[in-house]
Amino acid sequence: MKIAVLVSGGGTNLQAIIDKIASGEIQNTEISVVVSNNRKAYALERAKAANIPAVGLSVKQYPDREAFYDAVIETIDSYQVDLIVLAGCLMYIPPKLIQKYHNRIINIHPSLIPSFCGKGYYGLAVHEKVLERGVKVTGATVHFVDEILDNGPILLQKPVLIEDGDTPEALQLRVMQQAEWIILPQAINLLAQGKVVIEGNKARII
Ligand code: GRF
Repeated sequence: MKIAVLVSGGGTNLQAIIDKIASGEIQNTEISVVVSNNRKAYALERAKAANIPAVGLSVKQYPDREAFYDAVIETIDSYQVDLIVLAGCLMYIPPKLIQKYHNRIINIHPSLIPSFCGKGYYGLAVHEKVLERGVKVTGATVHFVDEILDNGPILLQKPVLIEDGDTPEALQLRVMQQAEWIILPQAINLLAQGKVVIEGNKARII
């Protein structure tokens, strides 16, 4: 299975995928390209260090947003991938990309969807809201991407307990270590082995 990984930041989720392909925990998978909407994203450095094609595209390079989105789509299309993985990707995913790759785009979100997701819930803000609300359990979710933000069929989730004295930063790191970096590679491995079926708004592992 050939995948494109879309990134915007530090790329720790990308690194987990790279490492687990190398260790054999993810089978039958090749990262064909890493694409970022942030040309300074450290994730691009991680791709280059792993000899993976890395493409940084900035909306500022284009006359308008549509032209930028077309460039992102053309770049992904040129690698003829089977799956698109959003890994710490803060870029708006245009409907035409979602339609073109229907049920072939997955995202990692740092909460147990449908809690703490949707507009404004990304990065550290998620964990700030989690602590503010006083929930006892949070976690991460891998879901398929549809045209509503953080709404598509849920594929995997993993809980993480809140600990006394948690700060947003400490919680974010623990959610990445204990959940994101585990379930995103697991999801890719399941898809690479044809073990996932989507039925309506649900994803099932067979
Ligand atoms: C993390 O908060 C992660 O939960 C979210 O994007 C942020 C950065 O991830 N998906 P990464 O280190 O760039 O993979």
